[in-house]
Amino acid sequence: MTKKLSRKEALKLSSVGVALFLGSKINSLFNPSETVSALESSDPPHDKHDAHTGLGTVGEVNHEFNEFNPSNILYDWDYGNVSTLENGQTLREYKILAIDKEIEIAPGVYFPAWIYGSPTSPESRVAGHIVGRVPGPSLRCIEGDLIRITFTNGGSHPHTIHFHGIHSAFMDGVPGVGAGIIFPGESTVYEFTAAPFGSHLYHCHALPLKRHIHKGLYGAFVIDPDPEKYTGEERAIAASRNHTYPENKEVNEMVMVMNGFDTNFDGGNEIYAVNSIAFAYMNNPIKIKRDQLQRIYISNLTEFDPINSIHIHANFFNYYDHGTTLQPTSKIVDTIMQCQAQRGIVEISFKDFEPGKYMFHAHQSEFAELGWMGFFEVEK
Ligand code: CU
Ligand code: CU
Repeated sequence: MTKKLSRKEALKLSSVGVALFLGSKINSLFNPSETVSALESSDPPHDKHDAHTGLGTVGEVNHEFNEFNPSNILYDWDYGNVSTLENGQTLREYKILAIDKEIEIAPGVYFPAWIYGSPTSPESRVAGHIVGRVPGPSLRCIEGDLIRITFTNGGSHPHTIHFHGIHSAFMDGVPGVGAGIIFPGESTVYEFTAAPFGSHLYHCHALPLKRHIHKGLYGAFVIDPDPEKYTGEERAIAASRNHTYPENKEVNEMVMVMNGFDTNFDGGNEIYAVNSIAFAYMNNPIKIKRDQLQRIYISNLTEFDPINSIHIHANFFNYYDHGTTLQPTSKIVDTIMQCQAQRGIVEISFKDFEPGKYMFHAHQSEFAELGWMGFFEVEK
């Protein structure tokens, strides 16, 4: 079931215009917000509950139907099956499956996605059955680990997995090199040593590329630094970034993948989000402790729009472009932008801030109004 929803129509969604286009089901999509239609239509006089006060959606998507929840995706790391090789190197084995699956990205708006799932990612599995998620499993490892990914294409189209990182051309997951395209029902193994440390990503590289990525075949790929390579302050920072060190437990780490959905396949997105569900963190703010450092591994997998961004309200943060340095590449900023596939690490503290809801969103206002907006709920 796929609803046709154009970009302009999505922007115009209001209690007046929606039913005409999409039937009553989509009526629940958006709270009337300040949109073009509010200016164009002959709305009755505004009161406290009118178009100028509402943000987000009325109602929520059915997370059970999707079989994943963006509130869990924030924290759902996939460490793979871990063992030690004879030479002492850590081996991480992942099994990743690509499948076709319809997902609900905003209340009443369904999208025929192609998605990745893994048995070692709790949020992409139900009772041992791989159900997948968008974004795909957040793969996490440490620099120097041997990564072995068995990829099986359980979908209806040819796919690959292309990792950003340093590796052999034969393990690059692009058409015509190494295993090349993996056809439905086929499998391959990608293997490489994890490098460099950073906030990376992976995605399908089958053609047409933008369609394969946009359909949902992407995810975060985080390589932690190895603290034993450093001394002094650098060692302390690397330990804080390494998930096997106790210092890392003092930080609240999240994954955010900025994405968009072209619901009518016209080459433009109608819905924008972090972690796929429009306004997910408006409906369910991300609760954070004000005295705890917040670290966000954020990447841009939005197709069709060349740039996306994050802006956090009432505070400033440090940013590590690509996450490949131990020192911030931008200090004391409140907005950063990322081109397609760019990513980095945001570090922010609300220490001594007044408890309350602090907004974050893309600073492309259109993206924000179409779903890419949320709240941190800062608690003592
Ligand atoms: Cu693909
Ligand atoms: Cu890429």
